[in-house]
Amino acid sequence: MKSFDSYRKWKYTKFLSNKNYSFNRNYILNIISSKIITDAFNSISKWKYYKKTPLLKLEKLNKNLKLNNIFYKDESKRFHLKSFKALGGAYAVEKISKKKKNIIISSATAGNHGRSVAWGAQRLGLQCKIFVSQYVSEERVKEIEKFGADVIRVKGNYENSLNECKKLSKKNNWNIVQDVSTKNYSYVPLLTMAGYSIMIKEISKQTTHYITHIFLQAGVGGMAAGVVAGVAKYFKRVPKIIIVEPDGADCVLQSIKSKSLKKIKIKKESIMGGMSCNEMSLIPWHVLKKASDCCVTVNDSKVPKTVAMLKDKKLSKRSIIGGECATPGIISLISLCNNPKTKKLINLNEKSNVLVIGCEGNADVKLYKQLLSKGRK
Ligand SMILES: Cc1ncc(COP(=O)(O)O)c(C=O)c1O
Repeated sequence: MKSFDSYRKWKYTKFLSNKNYSFNRNYILNIISSKIITDAFNSISKWKYYKKTPLLKLEKLNKNLKLNNIFYKDESKRFHLKSFKALGGAYAVEKISKKKKNIIISSATAGNHGRSVAWGAQRLGLQCKIFVSQYVSEERVKEIEKFGADVIRVKGNYENSLNECKKLSKKNNWNIVQDVSTKNYSYVPLLTMAGYSIMIKEISKQTTHYITHIFLQAGVGGMAAGVVAGVAKYFKRVPKIIIVEPDGADCVLQSIKSKSLKKIKIKKESIMGGMSCNEMSLIPWHVLKKASDCCVTVNDSKVPKTVAMLKDKKLSKRSIIGGECATPGIISLISLCNNPKTKKLINLNEKSNVLVIGCEGNADVKLYKQLLSKGRK
């Protein structure tokens, strides 16, 4: 295996400071309420097999970048779903089913959300219909089917699968559980975001260090908004919020730049499939347009190497299984540190306690193996 020190040459693609930044706890908790956040924790923490996911340290990377700490929240251990998404969809299913046994749940998904919904339905003995586009891998479909759901493949992209899901759900009176909020659809996505805030509740008990920077991956922004709401509720000090996206799917950066929700055109789907989104969800937009300090974008090229570095203990003392979406926080942290100007601008220094979210493990086993072997070359 080649030396890994080459990461000191890594670069990000775009960096944008948010000119409208203003983190206000009341504003955020008015959108994602403290009550809904508390309810989510009270419900999910009672589920069988619930336990905090590990808060690991990337000690070796930290030594190299000369920060104080780099924490890695390892969501590969989240129930048996291998992703933070287990906290969202499954919780929303529980809430909307209200203990009824005769309802049918439906959802459209790029992968992990559908798994969470299918698992949530199975836990409660409910039937479940999951719609996927032609781009969702067979591997991911199999993982959803393992939880007893019927998977319906739809020609075209995610939007097509969502439209078909809406059409058939209306016709058959199925209950849709989506994680993307729009003007007329906010309650269920709010539940999913409240579920994601549990990561911060756990972290607030897992370290006595004040976190100074959080790197948050974004697709439609649900995870980032849920974490920000957790910060507003549970953290005593407000860290810098850094939003990370694939450079070909930078809908958060573009929206913040133009101060309005922007739909972008994705020319090439990112390997970070869960984050390859062309438009933000509405509630996350209202949260992130103020709470994000800055946005950064990275390309796919460093993903395999980062997967391999995590696995082969190049960043930490322990081996970590991190899938494609677990890598961009690390890639952007390294790239920002490599640029003295941005490093200074966002105060990354020997006092920094950085948090990156390892949001998925080998959720797609086949892709994970491919990335690992490519990254080791
Ligand atoms: C597997 C996976 N899917 C999706 C996302 C994006 O979440 P959201 O669409 O809520 O921003 C992430 C993390 O950013 C992820 O790790």
